[in-house]
Amino acid sequence: AGALKVGIAGLGTVGSSLARIITGRANELSVTCGRAIEITAVSARDRSRDRGIDLSGMAWFESAEEMAARADIDVLVELIGGAEGPAERAVRAALDRGLHVVTANKALLARHGVELAALAEKKGVLLNFEAAVAGGIPVIKALRESLTGNRISRVYGIMNGTCNYILTRMEKEGLSFQDCLTEAQRLGYAEADPTFDIEGNDTAHKLAILTTLAFGTQIAADEIYLEGISNISIEDIEAAADLGYRIKLLGVAQQTDSGIEQRVHPTMVPRDSVIAQVDGVTNAVAIESDILGELLMVGPGAGGDATASAVLGDIADIAKSRPGEQRVPVLGTPAEALEPYRRAR
Ligand code: HSE
Repeated sequence: AGALKVGIAGLGTVGSSLARIITGRANELSVTCGRAIEITAVSARDRSRDRGIDLSGMAWFESAEEMAARADIDVLVELIGGAEGPAERAVRAALDRGLHVVTANKALLARHGVELAALAEKKGVLLNFEAAVAGGIPVIKALRESLTGNRISRVYGIMNGTCNYILTRMEKEGLSFQDCLTEAQRLGYAEADPTFDIEGNDTAHKLAILTTLAFGTQIAADEIYLEGISNISIEDIEAAADLGYRIKLLGVAQQTDSGIEQRVHPTMVPRDSVIAQVDGVTNAVAIESDILGELLMVGPGAGGDATASAVLGDIADIAKSRPGEQRVPVLGTPAEALEPYRRAR
């Protein structure tokens, strides 16, 4: 097969990291994937910024939608973010045109995921989003593929690296909330609007996606009980420690007799539990199911390279797939077969 032509929309922390990896490892990737992966187009607002990438040979677009509609590409990689606006328009334009899409955009999927999945399935293309939840941890693949046939009872975890980084440094170094947040932003962990991190919205977006994959129901991000970490003080953290606990921002989704319960809030976890040991930007996702039992995955949850690693895996899956054989339902269950969401009473 000829080279897989990739267009990257958004050259921020993740996009730049991805472009450096794809160009720097071109030979290895072409051996592993059986064909070359080439970045043929990019879009971002500012062309002149130095990102350590050689952009010559890549078509430049100011508009992601324009790139998705017109560029010579097989795959759109959307790394702009945001539930509406340029990201949404670019993804729709690409799917309409029958291109594969890879996205890290949890806000977009939490809002429009079912509809976009239906569109991708109708067009027979892949819409991959491993990077949207828990950074580099392969939780989407686990739920969508590895655990097929299991009945899942609960999914929970630490899914926001920024919050976990803040809570860890407040506890271990006594730093102020604001200083930790500023540092998390500097390291490229935080969302463009960090309110989404600290108020729990980002965790809620991720949880809503996992709930759909785990339980085969429509996405219901608005049904999540939501409380962030902005009110957590060092005194709270110390009081929890005195009682033998650490405070973590958890997202939890579980199946109950009356329906599904989804919640995001700061939680006291016993100091000796595995999840309490998860520090810094690291994420953890636990899945409880009847055949396998409990699965716990721990790994890098945010930042350029961790996220780019998951995006690259998604691109490689497309490079290895054969046209017409893309049968993986985007959300684990074909979009038209997802059940209505029923909230626990
Ligand atoms: N802002 C997110 C986080 C990025 O801190 O986890 C990864 O989705």
